[in-house]
Amino acid sequence: MSQATSAPLVTRETHPGYFLLRRLHSLTGILFGGYICVHLLINATLIQGPGTTGQPGIFQLQVDKIHSLPFLLAIELSFIFAPLLVHTIYGIYIMLNGKPNVGHYGYVKNWFYFLQRVSAVALVAFILFHVGGMFGWFGENLKFVAHEKAFESTIRHVQIHWAVALIVYPLGVLAGTFHLANGFWGAGVAWGLTVSQQAQQRWGLICLGLFLFTTLCGFLAIIATFVYKNHALPLAGN
Ligand code: HEM
Repeated sequence: MSQATSAPLVTRETHPGYFLLRRLHSLTGILFGGYICVHLLINATLIQGPGTTGQPGIFQLQVDKIHSLPFLLAIELSFIFAPLLVHTIYGIYIMLNGKPNVGHYGYVKNWFYFLQRVSAVALVAFILFHVGGMFGWFGENLKFVAHEKAFESTIRHVQIHWAVALIVYPLGVLAGTFHLANGFWGAGVAWGLTVSQQAQQRWGLICLGLFLFTTLCGFLAIIATFVYKNHALPLAGN
């Protein structure tokens, strides 16, 4: 991706820890990316429905399995929140210290470089809304109720307003799946695993497949919230 980056303002000489931090940024992105794949796959099971009376649906079963894991808080903190925090903080630093060359070159790779940054900014806003909402920071109606009401509370969360269901979530999913797949492609280059042009093209096809699959999973979950809209948990205060 060398054409895509103009001369960096930080170098190995000016910042001795720079390369180590770049690797940490990459590693945390890969770790969090792995989590996002699993997360989207589980969310796609929303399309399998709410289950029957006395028989929880597939989505609720997955949530129950996750919540029955030992050391869940420690796992979440070390494998989800800490990597995301490190990746986001250093990602912002990277963005403030590089200049996109889209106007100068207009190559596809340059556009991908630019979109990697646009999707990163969108993700900061989306993740704040998604995580904050699910934790109940923005009120009861956006909150995720894991115990027995995972399906119903997720439907209520997404269907709270047409703009959340039709704009916020589709754009959030697209920003995440693009950033993830394009990031995995870049990581192949960064770690020296895809050196030749053919290797980069082959890896590019795999990353395209990953983008299409994770996007399909994300959109299946959004579609499920429309299909099962009448199963939404009643609005608090109603
Ligand atoms: C769904 C959440 C996210 C995932 C799965 C993810 C994953 C990744 C991956 C795998 C890479 C490639 C690392 C490499 O080139 O070796 C990457 C790059 C990047 N990420 Fe993220 N990331 C996420 C969220 C964010 C956020 C919130 C920011 C906020 C600033 C961010 C900023 C960046 C930047 C600037 C790059 C490009 C680094 C470069 O070009 O060298 N990412 N991300």
